[in-house]
Amino acid sequence: MKVILYIATTINGMIAKKDGNSDFVSSEDEASFNKICRNTGCVIMGRNTLEYFKSLPIESWPNTDGIHIALTSSKSLSVSHPQIYFTDSPQSALKLAEQKNKSGIVVIGGSKTWGSFMKENLVDEIYLDIEPLAFGEGMPMFIGGDFEIKLELIESKPLSPQTIQLHYRVKK
Ligand SMILES: NC(=O)c1ccc[n+]([C@@H]2O[C@H](COP(=O)([O-])OP(=O)(O)OC[C@H]3O[C@@H](n4cnc5c(N)ncnc54)[C@H](OP(=O)(O)O)[C@@H]3O)[C@@H](O)[C@H]2O)c1
Repeated sequence: MKVILYIATTINGMIAKKDGNSDFVSSEDEASFNKICRNTGCVIMGRNTLEYFKSLPIESWPNTDGIHIALTSSKSLSVSHPQIYFTDSPQSALKLAEQKNKSGIVVIGGSKTWGSFMKENLVDEIYLDIEPLAFGEGMPMFIGGDFEIKLELIESKPLSPQTIQLHYRVKK
């Protein structure tokens, strides 16, 4: 099972503003993100990120043709979407994806969810789309634990004259 993190960030590693808004991401980031989600066919997100997608029509969710898995400790969440499953840990999310015959997943955020996959050393690849801005206070990329993970750069390329994409493999 290949586990990919897909992250849009400022130059100083912030993934959302203080109020939780990530409206700084570019249309080129969104297009690349949607392509990778569709190719993989399975996305995992935390409950807070799910709250954002709940406000959008299903056609605007990533990975429209595949499955969505939301991490939560709640037993009572429900969302009107034909292909969403709930589970309470990164490991059980991977198990569920395997049961659904998926060979890869994209973890689409946010900070706590990415942090838990990194802490458990479950990540194989990371896409980092760097947008041309910085802000002093906001949400850091990873929350929830100490870890040190070494990476190898697979590719770096401009998505536009303003947005750079770095693609890393995790050294195991
Ligand atoms: N820039 C980007 O690329 C990007 C992408 C996505 C999201 N975002 C931003 O990220 C923010 C949300 O991030 P966030 O860190 O607040 O929340 P999050 O990771 O989306 O969701 C956190 C929640 O998910 C559940 N969860 C996460 N890890 C878990 C684990 N190991 N086991 C069990 N449950 C787990 C918990 O839900 P319960 O509390 O229900 O137990 C936790 O409270 C938003 O502001 C959004 O805009 C940015």
